[in-house]
Amino acid sequence: MTISSDSPLLQIDSLSVHFSIERGLLRRKVGEVRAVDGVSLDIHPGETLGLVGESGCGKTTLGRTVVKLQSATGGEVLFDREPISEKIQTARDVQLIFQDPFSSLNPRMTVGEAIGEVLRQHQIVPPEKVAGRTAKLLQMVELSPEQAHRYPHEFSGGQRQRIGIARALAVEPRLIICDEIVSALDVSVQAQILNLLTKLQREKQLAYLFISHDLAVVRQIAHRIAVMYAGKIVELGETEKVADDPLHPYTQALMASARGEGVTLGEVANPADLPSGCHFHPRCSLAKDAAGETASECATNYPKPIETDNGRWVACHLIPEVRTHV
Ligand SMILES: Nc1ncnc2c1ncn2[C@@H]1O[C@H](COP(=O)(O)OP(=O)(O)O)[C@@H](O)[C@H]1O
Ligand code: SF4
Ligand SMILES: [Mg+2]
Repeated sequence: MTISSDSPLLQIDSLSVHFSIERGLLRRKVGEVRAVDGVSLDIHPGETLGLVGESGCGKTTLGRTVVKLQSATGGEVLFDREPISEKIQTARDVQLIFQDPFSSLNPRMTVGEAIGEVLRQHQIVPPEKVAGRTAKLLQMVELSPEQAHRYPHEFSGGQRQRIGIARALAVEPRLIICDEIVSALDVSVQAQILNLLTKLQREKQLAYLFISHDLAVVRQIAHRIAVMYAGKIVELGETEKVADDPLHPYTQALMASARGEGVTLGEVANPADLPSGCHFHPRCSLAKDAAGETASECATNYPKPIETDNGRWVACHLIPEVRTHV
């Protein structure tokens, strides 16, 4: 797969989102949840960046921050090299679709009305052209224009997700953040939606930030994959490399689990009470010697990400040992 070498469309630079934990009448701060902690990523026009990690690692918070539904506590997000905080246009340029499109569709509005509402609100076409554009958008997502007169409950899960995509496309975005959008669907319907996203990407040079807890799904669509653990990116690189030859012990565990191999990893790190050193160390077999002792550097220092290959980054102290461990 070739990716455009243009300058990045989206640049996420050392982004952090920490939530305060407050107690008592005076709402005293007693701690914080480090949902996103110093994440840097970029996405090019026409590229799909997959973001994968277990539930609670910060994926949704990251996506919501990019569309300004959540404010950052540190770092910045640039779109077209300008801070998103200063760009009004971002509301159109970047769209978010999430797992349950039904919750964002008004059950009393027909699908045509729901799409028409977006077209009118953003004045995408003059009022007399709304119906025609709505029909075209339904065709783009492989639904028929006649279905515009139906209500959301009359559609299947996969069709509702298509409607969600049509609504996002209505404003002619350049980047769509897809947050677990196929997670509730059967495997065959998942494949149809992934194919549709790929087709639309080719036609429109769209970029996607494709978020999922499932590495098997992400590898089907992403050009590059970023693996997130406890608010940080632990591995980043081209899909073939990350999925076929994972270097980080956490990516290796995710891959084994995607292959259906039973891996017992233990508890996910709690972002309100992160382990010292490498956040993955309590679950990492590579870090432990024969007696079960954790390597001291793993238990004390967070590993600095290292570029192991062109564009391939891994945050692990024991990278040289990784390959022999697989
Ligand atoms: N508004 C919030 N206030 C406090 N904690 C939050 C808030 N939103 C998310 N979190 C916490 O941030 C962490 C990351 O959550 P989330 O971004 O939803 O992860 P993911 O999408 O990877 O499952 C979780 O521990 C979650 O409980
Ligand atoms: S730094 Fe240590 S604990 Fe963390 S993934 Fe690498 S080997 Fe495991
Ligand atoms: Mg989520």
